[in-house]
Amino acid sequence: MKMVSAVMLGAWLGAAALGTVRAAAAVPLEEPKEQRDARMAWWREAKFGLFIHWGVYAVPAGTYDGKPIGGIGEWIMNRGKIPVARYAEYAKEFNPVKFNAGAWVRIAKDAGMKYMVITSKHHDGFAMFHSKASPYNIYAATPFKRDPLAELAAACRKEGIKLGFYYSQAQDWHHPGGAAMGGHWDKTAQDGSMDKYIDEVAVPQVKEILANYGEFPAVLWWDTPIGMNTERATKLYKVAQELKPNIIMNNRLGGGFKGDTETPEQHIPATGYPGRDWETCMTMNGTWGFKSYDHNWKSTGILIRNLADIASKGGNYLLNVGPTAEGLIPEPSIERLKEVGVWMKVNGEAIYGTSASVFPYLAWGRCTSRPGKLYLHIFDWPAEGQLDVPAKLAVKQAYLLAAADQPLVATVDGLHTKIKLPAGAPDKVDSVLCVEINGAPELDPSVAAPAAPKKTVAKQDGKKEKKK
Ligand code: GLC
Repeated sequence: MKMVSAVMLGAWLGAAALGTVRAAAAVPLEEPKEQRDARMAWWREAKFGLFIHWGVYAVPAGTYDGKPIGGIGEWIMNRGKIPVARYAEYAKEFNPVKFNAGAWVRIAKDAGMKYMVITSKHHDGFAMFHSKASPYNIYAATPFKRDPLAELAAACRKEGIKLGFYYSQAQDWHHPGGAAMGGHWDKTAQDGSMDKYIDEVAVPQVKEILANYGEFPAVLWWDTPIGMNTERATKLYKVAQELKPNIIMNNRLGGGFKGDTETPEQHIPATGYPGRDWETCMTMNGTWGFKSYDHNWKSTGILIRNLADIASKGGNYLLNVGPTAEGLIPEPSIERLKEVGVWMKVNGEAIYGTSASVFPYLAWGRCTSRPGKLYLHIFDWPAEGQLDVPAKLAVKQAYLLAAADQPLVATVDGLHTKIKLPAGAPDKVDSVLCVEINGAPELDPSVAAPAAPKKTVAKQDGKKEKKK
């Protein structure tokens, strides 16, 4: 537990009394642990969420002027150096009449997900909501004339799913003054004052997404803080604190704001982020935004093992879909989410609200935990008919979540506990064995994680550098 000094606490309480909690300082004060725990509680319980990258980029879907554009789909404007006016033409074609908010929310819910985060505005500057701050939005600039965020908010409310909004606060390739990775390529349209952009586009739009959707958003997901400084970031931070003081924000605002969550992208950090909340965001194929020709799908097995691996390291999994310009989640994503949902129905107890593993290493799989319970995720079902757990455990009961009424025999052998298993794995990907225990496990200290292979990475100047 982080100690909050009396002075800091005093400052906090003073700020709270004035109604300026966490907005008082440029870089926020330490928040009392109890308050933070209360604010993060639903998110820590949820563990599994749906990321949705949806925007005008779904119209070109990876192809510009007849040529495939490399890289992730939502970056097509930047990667293809598409002029602002030319890209805006796609908006006129964007008419996702097959969009059905209820269907999307049910897909997430049936997968066992508890929250979703959708791009309210990505780097292309196009708002996926009815914005008064800029006419470049789905309500005003497309034939669709609907507000998908409002429809999703209603559907999430109905189904008990939390809704969060992604907002690209710094990169905006449409509005003058917005930042662009690699610099502006359509200078007449893009050059301008970033402060003016922040004041006239980003701040007003963030106000809109925070104020117009009832209790949502529950999460504000910033991204790529190119050109952000403390002054710019503080303006956005203040708006969020004023309008949604309990919101959860990620660590990508910039300007020195740490945010609530670390956001490793497309990978699972080996030991998580001890002491910090974190969420791995990941694509199911190779792109966030829809690309018609990306068929590089991860198997359901990989997705389930990723979820267990992430939970075993104390994190959340935010798994992405990139809907089409018609408003449909691609079929391969739906199939996989359905299959993950089947696994979650049986094994969800080993994911929701769990804490990280108590073991540094398990040769056959992963572990998640909660007070009095260990969930042993068996990836490789032992041929010898028993599971070797490298700890002395005072076992009350052991059973597979897939066969909870069939108790398994556990015997202690020194600093190991052997659990007798049925012949076949109930699940080829991850069979979860729940062990109810008294007291704390006494670990076998000789079972440690194997040393990570030494990787070499190329430094910018071409010299090789050893990675620790
Ligand atoms: C990156 C990309 C972006 C994507 C995001 C998801 O920062 O710029 O396109 O939205 O990652 O984490």
